[in-house]
Amino acid sequence: MVQIAPSILSANFSDLRSEIDLVTRAGAHALHIDVMDGHFVPNITIGPPVVASIKQVTRLPLDVHLMINDPDKFIPAFIKAGADRLSVHIENGIHIHRTISSIKSAGVKAGVAVNPGTPPGTLYEILPILDFILVMSVNPGFGGQKFIESSIDKIRRLNQVITTRKLKTIISVDGGVDVENTPMLVQAGARLLVAGNAIFGAPDPFQAVKKLIEASKTTKFLKNE
Ligand code: DX5
Ligand code: ZN
Repeated sequence: MVQIAPSILSANFSDLRSEIDLVTRAGAHALHIDVMDGHFVPNITIGPPVVASIKQVTRLPLDVHLMINDPDKFIPAFIKAGADRLSVHIENGIHIHRTISSIKSAGVKAGVAVNPGTPPGTLYEILPILDFILVMSVNPGFGGQKFIESSIDKIRRLNQVITTRKLKTIISVDGGVDVENTPMLVQAGARLLVAGNAIFGAPDPFQAVKKLIEASKTTKFLKNE
């Protein structure tokens, strides 16, 4: 099954609870929360106190995407705030194996995010210990950017390696996801789709979630799963 995780980055922050309730009723499977520090990416968003507040008003798993320098320093705070899944970027993970191990030892699902310009081969050594990969299909920092087409081939290649090695690592994709590219992403091997602007930027976010769920089912490749 393919899961949809609305990214709250494009939501109305002054009425976040209503926005969360809306996508929950529409069938969203998780909430994607973008954490930016103004150093690793050119934007600043939210920190652990906001994650802790969101945790109190939703039962959806919180998928926390850390786009920050020195993630090891802040991981314990995000785990305490209620993150169910944490992703760190390969580009600033000098001791990525240690970082992933520490997240998992806290009982939290661990993932590695990979920027559009980073080759997927950098992930191969740690694939067996990853719960998921977050393939960035835009350069991180902002919502509403144009989908980078080459991400589809990257997902396909990663999926081949995961399948050949009989691993359970899930591929998720983040950036510019919409109803148009969803079937191709699913066909390539993505099983968790993050979408911000396509949901919260739509006139009717409730319907937008439903349409993404429908679009994710349109591929024949899912029939045997
Ligand atoms: C980008 C973030 C994404 C972003 C996706 O830096 O990591 O999660 O919110 O938003 P859309 O779907 O609008 O590209
Ligand atoms: Zn993200």
